[in-house]
Amino acid sequence: MAADAVAAAMAASSLCDDLEPATVRTCIRDVLAAGAARAGERVVVGGWVRTGREQGKGTFAFLELSDGSCVSTLQVIVDAAVHPLARLTATGTSVLVEGEIKEPPEGTKQNVELKVSRVLEVGEVDAAAYPLPKGKVKLTLEKLRDVVHLRSRTNTIGAVARIRHQLAYATHRFFEENRFLYVHTPIITTSDCEGAGEMFQVTTLFSQAEKTEKELKENPAPSESEIEAAKVIVKEKGDAVAQLKAAKASKQDISAAVDVLNRAKEHVSKLEERSKLKPGIPCRDDGSIAFENDFFKRQAFLTVSGQLQVETYACALSSVYTFGPTFRAENSHTSRHLAEFWMVEPEIAFANLQDDMNCAEKYVQYLCKWLLDHCREDMEFMVKNYDKSAIERLELVSSTPFVRISYTKAVELLKNVTGKKFDNKVEWGIDLASEHERYLTEDIFKKPVIVYNYPKGIKAFYMRLNDDDKTVAAMDVLVPKVGELVGGSQREERLDVLKQRILDAGLPLEPYEWYLDLRRFGSVKHSGFGLGFERMILFATGMENIRDVIPFPRYPGRADL
Ligand code: 4AD
Ligand code: MG
Repeated sequence: MAADAVAAAMAASSLCDDLEPATVRTCIRDVLAAGAARAGERVVVGGWVRTGREQGKGTFAFLELSDGSCVSTLQVIVDAAVHPLARLTATGTSVLVEGEIKEPPEGTKQNVELKVSRVLEVGEVDAAAYPLPKGKVKLTLEKLRDVVHLRSRTNTIGAVARIRHQLAYATHRFFEENRFLYVHTPIITTSDCEGAGEMFQVTTLFSQAEKTEKELKENPAPSESEIEAAKVIVKEKGDAVAQLKAAKASKQDISAAVDVLNRAKEHVSKLEERSKLKPGIPCRDDGSIAFENDFFKRQAFLTVSGQLQVETYACALSSVYTFGPTFRAENSHTSRHLAEFWMVEPEIAFANLQDDMNCAEKYVQYLCKWLLDHCREDMEFMVKNYDKSAIERLELVSSTPFVRISYTKAVELLKNVTGKKFDNKVEWGIDLASEHERYLTEDIFKKPVIVYNYPKGIKAFYMRLNDDDKTVAAMDVLVPKVGELVGGSQREERLDVLKQRILDAGLPLEPYEWYLDLRRFGSVKHSGFGLGFERMILFATGMENIRDVIPFPRYPGRADL
């Protein structure tokens, strides 16, 4: 069933006479895809005017309309008798129109156009104030980041959004087809997965402190003498009760006096409570911050990875994955790093490093193939405007096995490179820099490369220690244009070894006790990886900067909206 037929069926099945009728809108993509086959049909179409021009001495106007369903625009023709044309032609104007699909005259480049009979709704634009330029004029991607709330109306950001959507959809399909369960891991966490101390803290201590300070300004804390005076009153009221009792006064009189006494006592405890209110962040006696007063009664952070938590599900439901936002407070200003990015993290029980690599390779290939099959027009747009080889790259990667080499071998290869000087010296033990990773995949092998068995000193505590005691069962997938796309490993399943690795990393054991429990009770060989979702989009589209492939980029100094 076509999308608009579904919409019509839905609208018809839920009619409410007391509400405005439902809008049954046809996607521009569907109108264009059907072409002349739908000529003569009446449809309602909505969108934003990309360019509008009056023609025939102001008797009619052509509007190029985009509704974001595809790169192409629909040519819409409106007669001056239908609507005042000047109100429709400004770039950025929104319109909802009803009209008839027509075959255009011979020799024009459109395959169909829409002849409007009714303009149903208009959202006008003050052309002088509209930040996006008209027609073929383009703002640079960098300038577009300053209008992040409107840049979704550009062809580039629209194409990237559709490709991003398709990659997310394909991700769920791939894992569903391979019997993985989607697990929602927490965004607020109390464990540092990578142990790198690059976490954003989640705290209400600052807002609490601000509130207290404001309150103390309006209503200062009671002084010692105020409290003393209130205590004297309690003493007087207590004496009064005692006297009444001694004088065998009536029950009524005694209980009235007791009430007065209780109120005086309450007043003292309120004053004492308020006298404890101090401006600033609460501190312990040794000067450290008293996180027991914080929202979660302990320190909490935004997650850098859902891995540790998703492992708990892998160690029960076997094949699982998480896909969500992750946060890193690293001060990276590169075109490959964001402070908030999305990560796809599968975790597989009974799987070793080879299984892990196989899964990563199959998944990346699936994504490439999916875009070739489902995103042709957008990919062609990318080829035309950003990267001539984008489609070829997808074809190559989807059909060629990835190279697999050990870290030791990779270092050897890089050391023997002549005719290119790296900024960072290559020697066994270094963390490969982006220039090394890209040289391996772009120059030496010219295809994706999986580097495995890295030195233990540069990798996280949870990676399985190899028998050589020097390397861990880690693997990174490196791809052209991007460098590191995937980072993964076989996990350390041996309790004693894992404990020692945590301690060697300078981390305390206590917060990881629950993680150690997975090794205490029914421990299992298991592996997983994380694919940087925005890096996958960079790789697929050939876009240069990661800030342009996420709808709302966050990086040092910038968090608009
Ligand atoms: O290599 P990373 O740090 O691995 C992990 O976080 C593991 N816990 C994943 C796992 O095994 N479940 O990050 C994984 C990937 C990287 O390969 C990279 O593609 C991406 O996440 N990435 C970033 N993407 C954008 N901005 C950043 N600051 C990124 N840091 C990592
Ligand atoms: Mg990594």
